Amino acid sequence: MQIDVLSLFPEMFSGFLASSIVARAIEKEAIDVILTDFRSYSTNKHRKVDDYAYGGFAGLVLQAQPIWDALKALTAQGPAPVIYFTPQGRKLTQSILEHYAALPRVILLCGHYKELDQRIRDMAVSDEVSLGDYVLSGGELASMVFIDGVARLQAGVLTDAQSASSDSFSDGKDSLGFPCYTRPEEWMGVKVPQVLTSGDHAQIEAWAQAQAQSLTRTRKTNEAASKLKGPMRLSKS
Ligand code: ADE
Repeated sequence: MQIDVLSLFPEMFSGFLASSIVARAIEKEAIDVILTDFRSYSTNKHRKVDDYAYGGFAGLVLQAQPIWDALKALTAQGPAPVIYFTPQGRKLTQSILEHYAALPRVILLCGHYKELDQRIRDMAVSDEVSLGDYVLSGGELASMVFIDGVARLQAGVLTDAQSASSDSFSDGKDSLGFPCYTRPEEWMGVKVPQVLTSGDHAQIEAWAQAQAQSLTRTRKTNEAASKLKGPMRLSKS
């Protein structure tokens, strides 16, 4: 899968692309991430990419020209969906990631500080995606979330032990995972649930499903807020 990223801050991606699963996906050639600074397409002699908003509104707006020319150059190789990250977009879900992960190529468009000229959104953007109902300084972090999410879905990227099939949400349902425990069996006086050491696989499976259902119910309702813990002190008094 080829992922082109249009950003004014390509340096934000360097640590991210060099680490963990995403780095492995690149090394295995499951994904190829190509960063383009669309400032380099600006025809302005000072390489300016933004200007005042018509109508006298506060703030600057990213101009259509550099983005359009960058997209024109990228899509000369062939068409690809252009995804723009904005709080106004549809909320990113696992099924959106699965949809795009199956395509050979996507182009990710990151704004920064400010909006894009609406004409680019109307004429060049195929999808608008948001991480959630909050405002970030730009689309770069959202792009990284997207890249991580699609990279781990590519064949051969995760090992069997990391298999994406047991992930939360991976069954297409709106379901969260279940609590996990590892050695030691007893830690700080707290034992792992007895069923997990019973060796009874049917019972363990039933327990995991029941836990996932109950977690999903609590986390998706206001019950979650009433269960928030206050500040934690880790020393014993
Ligand atoms: N850019 C700024 N805020 C964003 C958000 N919440 N989601 C995606 N992209 C963004």
